[in-house]
Amino acid sequence: MTDSSLVARDLQHIWHPCSQMKDYELFHPLIITGASKAYLHLQDGRKIIDAISSWWCKSLGHQHPRLKRALQLQMDKFEHVILANTTNETIVQLSEKLTELSPSLNKVMYASDGSSAVEMAMKMSLHARVIEGKTQRKLFIALENSYHGETIATLSVSDLGLYSEPYRSLMFAVKKIAPPYVNGEDDARWDNCELHWQSVLEQLQPYAHTATALIVEPILQAAAGMQIYSRDFLRRLRQWTREHDIHLIADEIMTGIGRTGKMLACEHAGIEADFVCLSKGLTSGWLPLSAMLTRNDIYDLFYDDYANGKSFMHSHTHSGNVLAASVALETLNIMTEEKLCARAGEMGGVMLEAMQAIANHTGKLKNIRMLGAMVAADLICDTNKRYGYEVYRKAVELGALLRPLGNTIYWVPPLNTEWETLCELKNITQKAILME
Ligand SMILES: Cc1ncc(COP(=O)(O)O)c(C=O)c1O
Repeated sequence: MTDSSLVARDLQHIWHPCSQMKDYELFHPLIITGASKAYLHLQDGRKIIDAISSWWCKSLGHQHPRLKRALQLQMDKFEHVILANTTNETIVQLSEKLTELSPSLNKVMYASDGSSAVEMAMKMSLHARVIEGKTQRKLFIALENSYHGETIATLSVSDLGLYSEPYRSLMFAVKKIAPPYVNGEDDARWDNCELHWQSVLEQLQPYAHTATALIVEPILQAAAGMQIYSRDFLRRLRQWTREHDIHLIADEIMTGIGRTGKMLACEHAGIEADFVCLSKGLTSGWLPLSAMLTRNDIYDLFYDDYANGKSFMHSHTHSGNVLAASVALETLNIMTEEKLCARAGEMGGVMLEAMQAIANHTGKLKNIRMLGAMVAADLICDTNKRYGYEVYRKAVELGALLRPLGNTIYWVPPLNTEWETLCELKNITQKAILME
């Protein structure tokens, strides 16, 4: 079977995610035959760096032997059983570990993808209001430039027109507020956004009695182009929501499980949300699994005799799939044993220096920013130009899967990527930007 015939068969039937299919006429889908650690193996024999951890999820890299073993052990027992009316040792251990992430988030509900976990939190917030008799609290508040998923409710609380514009007629109204962006922790606004806050406060106050929840991607808005905002802002949002009995939903789908150098990005601001959503790095991208954590007092609102009709009747066929749970449990063990949060911080320092060196050498980068094991920069170019796409094509040719967000290039490699690989990634990125 030759490359071209496999590509032809692919293009005959597969509609790839988040793609303009016509682009594949000129630049075919890469044929993957294997993967290991931070590398993807292509059919033409080349190994290229997975610089974006396959959409930000492969936090422990590809084919981690301990994750493979955990999965095999679970497969030998059983692969999936309905989680309503049953339980098992694996899911109980995973839930115990997840509830250790945050002092008061003691209950976990599972789904399969990030969007579903976010929507579950939104539904639960709204449903809690119905039970409490606070039905005037219906509104959601979100941040400008946010991204929370692809379902209609999560698109409604998102703010990236590229993904939502055609579906506007189905979406509901959400109050959006602008976060104060910074390029890193040494920006003065990181710890003090007082000036910005005053205008936000004025915008928030009219909704103090009608909002049910405020939803954020804590500190890092990834899909917006890896934008970082002030941790003081997140602290103030937490304080304001608490003062006004408004739930805070932390969408940690991308940031959670170590990516920002903390297990939860909320830790940067020293705050605890009322709902936390996790996915992606939760299984190190092995299998689809998402989790929504919340507090006992929210759980207690729903706890009553069945006849009183307060049950949260939300389910997904694969809620708490045990194969995914077995890998998630081992992922959490490895994160702790190998101190990968600390390593994410070290990687950030190394990658920041590398990105700065590229900027100095090429003169084609601006707004370099870093948080944990994420470094990003904007390409200096005409905004209509698809420079990012050209850099992507060139980088693949040179040995790295970069996949810029528009004209923002970024590195989100596995948290255990070897230092030589990061050095190789720097050289490839530099050459790709210069189109050498
Ligand atoms: C912050 C955030 N929330 C939600 C999602 C949606 O997750 P999924 O693609 O698994 O539905 C994503 C996906 O990138 C994300 O980055």
